Parts: sequence; structure tokens; C-alpha cells
Amino acid sequence: MASRLLMLLALLAVASRGAMASDPSLLQDFCVADKMSKVNVNGFACKDAEDVVVEDFVFSGFHIAGNTSNKQGSAVTAANVAQVPGLNTMGISMARIDFAPKGLNPPHIHPRATEILTVLEGSLYVGFITSIPGSRLISKVLTKGDVFVFPKALVHFQFNYGTENAVAIAGLSSQNPGVITVANTVFGSNPSLSDDILAKAFQVDKNTVDWIQAQFN
Ligand SMILES: *[C@@H]1O[C@H](CO)[C@@H](O)[C@H](O)[C@H]1NC(C)=O
Repeated sequence: MASRLLMLLALLAVASRGAMASDPSLLQDFCVADKMSKVNVNGFACKDAEDVVVEDFVFSGFHIAGNTSNKQGSAVTAANVAQVPGLNTMGISMARIDFAPKGLNPPHIHPRATEILTVLEGSLYVGFITSIPGSRLISKVLTKGDVFVFPKALVHFQFNYGTENAVAIAGLSSQNPGVITVANTVFGSNPSLSDDILAKAFQVDKNTVDWIQAQFN
């Protein structure tokens, strides 16, 4: 009796570990996002399978370079559930990232996705910062053909040190990875965080905080 109970407990432990290690399995072939549905669920409600068309699974755009004429000198072209309704419930998406010389994809977080990135053109200095052990920078210069992993929810960046444009393609483990850009979030929130809070957090005076906030508003 006791040994059967132990076996049952062991089985339960294995089963629950399996459930935590991966995305939930699909219960159908696909669930193409019905953006018109008023039903609120985690993701989107499914289009009627009869109404699904091939275009629901296609994004034609990664042949076009993003416009890097901006302060950061970088541009992200996303192919997630917003562009590709067929990605709904699939737990995956992609992005093309373009960099002008000295272009930066600034420190940011994807709250829902691990990212795997490969360099198609040029070179990139990339990295992420750990949470435990505290704040270790793990970084590397990548050249064409290299692949790098940014673990889910960690602060990470890509910077083009080079004198040529750089292009990367990223895969992300969510249909809707989300992006929280650290500087914009902290210094450009609406309404603004008070400079009392930011001066203390960053250990600088309030004038410095006000000046930085002005760059984001
Ligand atoms: C790129 O963006 C800049 C700044 O917004 C704009 O002036 C320019 O026309 C854009 N270029 C193209 C090719 O869209």
C-alpha cells in the first residue's frame, strides 16, 4: 500500500514537472485570431475554421529593411499575432531588426518570451543581464551566422558597433512577446514618475532626472 502511494506520488511529480516545462498543448490544429470577437480570453477567440484563409498564416515583409532614421538608429519589424492571426495559441513569433551604423536596440524586456537571434548582415554587440546572481552582464560580439539566446524576461540589448548596416532575425517564444524598453518606461511614463522617486532610485539629483525625463516626453 505504502509503496503504491509512493509510486503514485512519484508519477504525479513527474507529470507536474512536465506540465511546467512547456507550453500547453494545442487542442485543435489552429485557432486563427478573430480580431472582431467581443469574447475576452487569454489571446484571441478562434475564427470559424471554415473562414480561415491562407493569408492568416502569411507575413510578407522581412525583405523590406526597417527605417532606422530615428534617435536609436534601429527598427524592429514584428511578425507576431498582430500581423499574423494564425499565430494565435502557437506560442511563437518572429522579428526582423535593422541597425544603422552605431544603431542600438536599447535595453528592453520581453515579459512573455525567450528570444533566439541570428545575424544576417554585419556584426552586433549583444547581451543580457542576470537577475540571480545579481546583475551579471553576459555579452558577446556576434558576426554573420552567429546565434544568441536572450532568456525570457531579462533585460537585453543589441548594438551595432560597426560602420555598415546590420540585420538580424529573431524568433520569440510567444505569439505576443511584449516589449518594455527600460529607459522609456522609467523616464517616459505617462503620467511621469515623480523625480523624488527617480532621484532616489538612480542616486542622482532631481535636475538630472528632470533633464532625462525631458528627453522622453
Ligand atoms: C524614415 O523615417 C524618417 C523619420 O521619421 C522619415 O523622415 C523618412 O521619410 C522615412 N524614410 C522612409 C524611406 O520611409
